[in-house]
Amino acid sequence: MAVLEIKTAGDPVLKKISEPVRKIDKRIKKLLDDMAETMYATEGVGIAAPQVGVSLRMVVVDVDKKRYDIINPEIISREGTNIDVEGCLSCPDLFGEVERAEKIRVKFTTRFHKEKILDAEGLLARCIQHEVDHLDGRLFIDIAKNIQKGKPQRGEQVK
Ligand code: CO
Repeated sequence: MAVLEIKTAGDPVLKKISEPVRKIDKRIKKLLDDMAETMYATEGVGIAAPQVGVSLRMVVVDVDKKRYDIINPEIISREGTNIDVEGCLSCPDLFGEVERAEKIRVKFTTRFHKEKILDAEGLLARCIQHEVDHLDGRLFIDIAKNIQKGKPQRGEQVK
C-alpha cells in the first residue's frame, strides 16, 4: 500500500464529474487500499478518488473503526437535516458549517462485487454525503457557511 498525494482546491480534478467504475479489478482494489492508507495517514474519516487525482466514483470512509469501501454510490433517499462542522483533506486549514441530510440510504457496490444498501445516519451519513459530493465535483467550501481558518472540530454540533 502507499500514501498518495492529496490534491487540493484549485486542482481541476476536484471539479470534474467522476466516471463510474466499470470493472472492479486488481488496480481498483489497490487504489481503494491506497486511498484508505492515505486517509489514515492524514487522520481523515473519508476520502474520495478525485482527491488522489483519479476521476472514478469510489470512496473510502472510516467511522467508528469500521471501514467502508464504496464503489459507484448512489444516495437513494434522504431524511431530515442537520448542520455540523466539516473540514476536508483537500481544503487544509479550513472548516465551515454544512447542512446535510440527517439520514440517508445509499446503494453501492462493494469491492467483492456485491450490491449493497446501507442506511446511515449522523457522522457516517454526513461523511458519505461529503465524499459523494467530491464525485460530482463539489467541495464543502462551495456550500458551507461561516468558513473559518483553523482545524475543524469533527462531530461538534454547531448552531
Ligand atoms: Co473532502
